[in-house]
Amino acid sequence: MGESPKTTVSVIKADIGSLAGHHIVHPDTIAVASRVLAEGKSKGVIVDYYVTNVGDDLQLIMTHRKGVDNEQVHELAWRAFKEATKVAKDLGLYAAGQDLLSEAFSGNVRGLGPGVAEMEFVERPSEPIIVFMADKTEPGAFNLPMYRIFADPFNTAGLVIDPRLHGGFKFVVHDVFEGKEITLNAPEEIYDLLALIGTPSRFVVRKVLRKSDNEIGAVVSVERLSLIAGRYVGKDDPVAIVRAQSGFPAAGEILEAFSHPHLVAGWMRGSHHGPLMPVGMRYAKVTRFDGPPRVVALGFNVKNAKLIGPADLFDDVAFDEARRMAQLVTDYMRRHGPFMPHRLGPEEMEYTTLPEVLEKLKDRFVETEARKAAKPKVESELLAHKSQSEDVD
Ligand code: 13P
Ligand code: 13P
Ligand code: MG
Ligand code: MG
Repeated sequence: MGESPKTTVSVIKADIGSLAGHHIVHPDTIAVASRVLAEGKSKGVIVDYYVTNVGDDLQLIMTHRKGVDNEQVHELAWRAFKEATKVAKDLGLYAAGQDLLSEAFSGNVRGLGPGVAEMEFVERPSEPIIVFMADKTEPGAFNLPMYRIFADPFNTAGLVIDPRLHGGFKFVVHDVFEGKEITLNAPEEIYDLLALIGTPSRFVVRKVLRKSDNEIGAVVSVERLSLIAGRYVGKDDPVAIVRAQSGFPAAGEILEAFSHPHLVAGWMRGSHHGPLMPVGMRYAKVTRFDGPPRVVALGFNVKNAKLIGPADLFDDVAFDEARRMAQLVTDYMRRHGPFMPHRLGPEEMEYTTLPEVLEKLKDRFVETEARKAAKPKVESELLAHKSQSEDVD
């Protein structure tokens, strides 16, 4: 298979274990993952890479010429995670190998636990991209900012002012429970779009394309760890790649969508709602109640498939107020303790250990007196209704 003239950016991440709880990736695991990717680079599997972390998630940002879902690239990432897991085990890091749900690699890391966001494009003369990486939340956390960036003129002035954006964007929305997808156009179908993506635990914006020419604008990892594993092992902390400028929203319009620390699911034990706090790399670690959830934004220019950068974009006083608001919301939400809506609702809690606790109480429920008294009446009414409907037949 020949090399494509197109460039592919692959961001593949996994939690392979962390220091002092689900807090932060250990530098030795970053070092070993970097060594594996350096080998991959020297063998020509990838062109360039940048290894980093957000909280306890190890992030592999890679560029290459092999297209999305490429077996060699995915195998390289898998090997980096496996090697890093070995180090994590040697160091006794917490939850070593957490997100690697399979022993063996089978052609693609999708479905094996890691989160994946990949896009292929013909590079523009200047190709700015922003890689978003979040910890202690889920892929649907990007629904609201993606909507703001690509469909909301109150966020993105270019949708109104710039003729290259004025035609709008297409949203590919993934139903993570049914494994189905729907494509909706903005602005024409924004009410339908919002009817779906307002349920971020189920409907996740997977891709955004420019309507006029189908150019890829953004991709989000949609893997839901608990749905793959069938139980809670950790949260599916998501990643996203967004292209900026010259026919796409400007970098500042993309970042603007994170100036409101909206509530997302995740945080402690993956079981709580909390504000998504935009932070620079120095604060890309979680402490209070294992949070609050964080997102970082690294800006790169991609040139001849090389990664130029990064710029640590939320490391700016302009986001101080968003962080302060997130602190206030953190206090406010925490005071609810184990009550919803701080704690997630029952459908989401199904994948946690809460059902085991409820199971223990099952036999201690007794029927209320009112219910007992109502029962014979209800039953005789049902019988009467049944015979009536038989009469009709
Ligand atoms: P582009 O049209 O090059 O994206 O520039 C717009 C801009 O930077 C506005 O801030
Ligand atoms: P991670 O999904 O980031 O591993 O966090 C798990 C958790 O339970 C935090 O409290
Ligand atoms: Mg973890
Ligand atoms: Mg994590």
